[in-house]
Amino acid sequence: MFKIGNIEIKNNIVLAPMAGVCNSAFRKIIKEMGCGLMYAEMVSDKGMIYNSKKTKEMLYFEECERPIAQQIFGSDKESFTKAAKMVEKIMNPDIIDINMGCPVPKVAIKSQAGASLLKDLDKIREIVSSVVKSVSVPVTVKIRSGWDSSSINAIEVAKIVEDAGASAITVHGRTRSQGYSGVADLDIIKKVKESVSIPVIGNGDIVDIESAKKMLSYTGCDAIMIGRGVLGNPWLIKKLVTYFADGTIINDPSFEDKIKMCFHHLDYLMKQKCEKVAVLEMRSHIAWYLKGIPHSQEVKNKIFKATSKEEIEKILNNYLKEIKNSL
Ligand SMILES: Cc1cc2nc3c(=O)[nH]c(=O)nc-3n(C[C@H](O)[C@H](O)[C@H](O)COP(=O)(O)O)c2cc1C
Repeated sequence: MFKIGNIEIKNNIVLAPMAGVCNSAFRKIIKEMGCGLMYAEMVSDKGMIYNSKKTKEMLYFEECERPIAQQIFGSDKESFTKAAKMVEKIMNPDIIDINMGCPVPKVAIKSQAGASLLKDLDKIREIVSSVVKSVSVPVTVKIRSGWDSSSINAIEVAKIVEDAGASAITVHGRTRSQGYSGVADLDIIKKVKESVSIPVIGNGDIVDIESAKKMLSYTGCDAIMIGRGVLGNPWLIKKLVTYFADGTIINDPSFEDKIKMCFHHLDYLMKQKCEKVAVLEMRSHIAWYLKGIPHSQEVKNKIFKATSKEEIEKILNNYLKEIKNSL
C-alpha cells in the first residue's frame, strides 16, 4: 500500500495515462486485474475551458474505477488552473495530474505544452502551485528525465514540483527527444527518489516481473507505472499484483483467454461509445491481444475491414474454433 496525499492506494501498481487507450472501458479491465491506481488519458486545458464536448466526454468514468487520476495537459498557469477546477467539479477525480512529459510535436512544440514545460522552471513552479491551491484533491506531476540529453533536469524539476505542493511525481526515464527509443534510464529515477520526500512513481519499460522488480529495487521508487506493457496484456497487472502480494507466479493467459478478452473489451466499449467508434477502437486492441498467436495476421487483416460488432464477433468465433480444432 502507498499514499498520495490523503488517498490510500491498495498496491503500488499504477496504470500509465495513454491517449486513445485509457478510457473507462480499458480502465475497467485493468481494474479487474487488481490495479492500485489508474491514470486516465490526458485532456486538454483549452478543451475544458472552451467547453469542448469531446473533451468533456473523455472525463467519463465509473465509481468502480476509483482511485482515479485525471491528467491535464496545457501550457500556462491560467488555463491549467481553470481547467483543473472544472475537472474537479465535473468529475471529482481522486487525483489531478499535470502532464510535463508528452513528446508529441502537436503538444510539445506547437502548443508549448507537455514536455516543453521542462524547459521553463519558473513556469513549472507557477503552474503547480496555482493548481495545488485551486483544487482540494492531491495534485501529481508526470515528467520525463529532461528535454534532451544535454538538458537532463528531472532532479531540479522534482524539487520544484515538491516545493510547489505536489503530492507525488512520476518519472519516465527518457528525454523528450528520445521519444520511445532506447531504454528508460533508471539512474535518473533513483536520483529523483533520493532528492524528494513525496512518493516517486517509476515509469518506463516495465513488461514483466523482472523489469518490475528491477524498477522497484534499483530506484527505490514507491510505485511502478506501466503503459505499453499492458497493451494486449492486461494480465500483466494481475501477474505483478499477485507476485508482489505473496510471490505466486500466475500462468500466462491462454489463446482462448485472449480471444474472450476481446469480446469483453468490445462489450465495455459498446456500453460507452457508439458502435462505429467502438469497432474502430477495438481494431488496435484486437491486434495487440492477438500478437504472437498462430495465424493471427490473417485474422487481424479481416478485423481491420470489419465495421460492426457482429462482424468482429463472427471473425473471432471462427478463429477460436480453428484454434481449438488445431490443438
Ligand atoms: C499510446 C500512448 C499514449 C500515451 N499517452 C500519454 C498521455 O496521455 N499522457 C502521458 O503523460 N503519457 C502518455 N504516454 C506515455 C506513457 O504514459 C508512459 O510514460 C510511456 O509509455 C513509458 O512507459 P512504458 O514503457 O510502460 O510504456 C503515452 C504512451 C503511449 C504508448
